[in-house]
Amino acid sequence: MSTAIQLADNTAFIDQYGRQKRKLRISVTDRCNFKCSYCMPEHPKWAEKHTLLSFEALYQFCQFMVQRGIEQIRITGGEPLMRQGIVHFIAQLQQLKPLGLKRISMTTNGHYLTKYALDLKQAGLDDLNVSLDSLDEAQFQQLTQKHLQPVLAGIAQAQLVGLKVKVNCVLIKHCNDNQIVPLTHWAIKQEIELRFIEFMPLDGDQKWSATDVVTEQDILNELATVFKQIDALEQGNNPARLYRVDHTTIGIISTISHSFCHQCDRLRLTAQGDFYTCLFAQEGLNIKLLLDHLIGDKDATYQDLEQQLTDVIWSKALGFSAIQAQKQQKSGRISMHMMGG
Ligand code: GTP
Ligand code: 5AD
Ligand code: SF4
Repeated sequence: MSTAIQLADNTAFIDQYGRQKRKLRISVTDRCNFKCSYCMPEHPKWAEKHTLLSFEALYQFCQFMVQRGIEQIRITGGEPLMRQGIVHFIAQLQQLKPLGLKRISMTTNGHYLTKYALDLKQAGLDDLNVSLDSLDEAQFQQLTQKHLQPVLAGIAQAQLVGLKVKVNCVLIKHCNDNQIVPLTHWAIKQEIELRFIEFMPLDGDQKWSATDVVTEQDILNELATVFKQIDALEQGNNPARLYRVDHTTIGIISTISHSFCHQCDRLRLTAQGDFYTCLFAQEGLNIKLLLDHLIGDKDATYQDLEQQLTDVIWSKALGFSAIQAQKQQKSGRISMHMMGG
């Protein structure tokens, strides 16, 4: 187990609206082998490898954050399975469980899962979210520029090795909105939790338009054409609003029509060390130098990191609607493949 770091302050991080931070999302790479139209720009400029946070720096950061109240770490990308050493890193994170970490999760496009599912399970990964936007090969290819079959095989393999799997489907109007019923039938058959996601204005080429969004109400209307009983369940502290549909649970992440910002307990770090307090924040705080210094100098203290993070977290904006309302010029936000969702 890791020996606890000596910190001046061990209290949980909290923002000015009283929201305590319990979940941390770390993007380990901006690279991806898919090119989902709702995420990746047509011509991505990948971060150079030497500019990424090392696993050593990431581990130090995670330990610090766990000691300041983080209970769940979700590893994202780009595609996290494209970062070499990721399985070993997950195994290393297990050392943080005695310090308060409860769950280690990952969000992936699923393409490499047949190869990695067992390793991830053995490294102690607690759960896995996999993107699956269509069951139609041609439509899947159009959306992602990749094949469907490896993803379906990857999901099956993850279930086989005993990983807890949820499936994410981003819906875009007149593109894959015909998948609501087929994917729900598939989820019932596979006994898997499915979440539909409203398309958010975080695509790399900033082509998003409100008219592309399939809203929670649209999704419920479509489901009601086939499923006679749809019961709303309690939401808890998650972005997904849950519904019981024919003995399965369907989630809807409806940031556009029902933002859950009032109870947001999340923080984010990009692969290059930019710390964001909101998915929609216009800028982050780069902490790479601070983290590198902590690793390189045995006498360095966590004081600067503590102070800077405490301040930036305290100032966290109310959320999506407030940031939208403030926005004067074209968005300076970074795209989803860098932020990691
Ligand atoms: P669990 O609830 O732990 O399963 O994770 P998750 O659903 O938050 O993670 P996942 O990576 O699967 O993300 C699913 C969708 O939720 C993606 O579209 C994310 O961008 C979105 N999402 C995750 N966190 C937030 C958030 O803080 N705010 C908003 N608006 N959307 C979020
Ligand atoms: N809007 C909503 N969800 C998105 N994701 C990626 N880009 C967007 C977007 N513009 C989702 C992916 C993945 C998760 C990390 O974020 O489908 O499941
Ligand atoms: Fe890659 Fe995920 Fe973005 Fe799709 S959503 S391009 S799989 S990072």
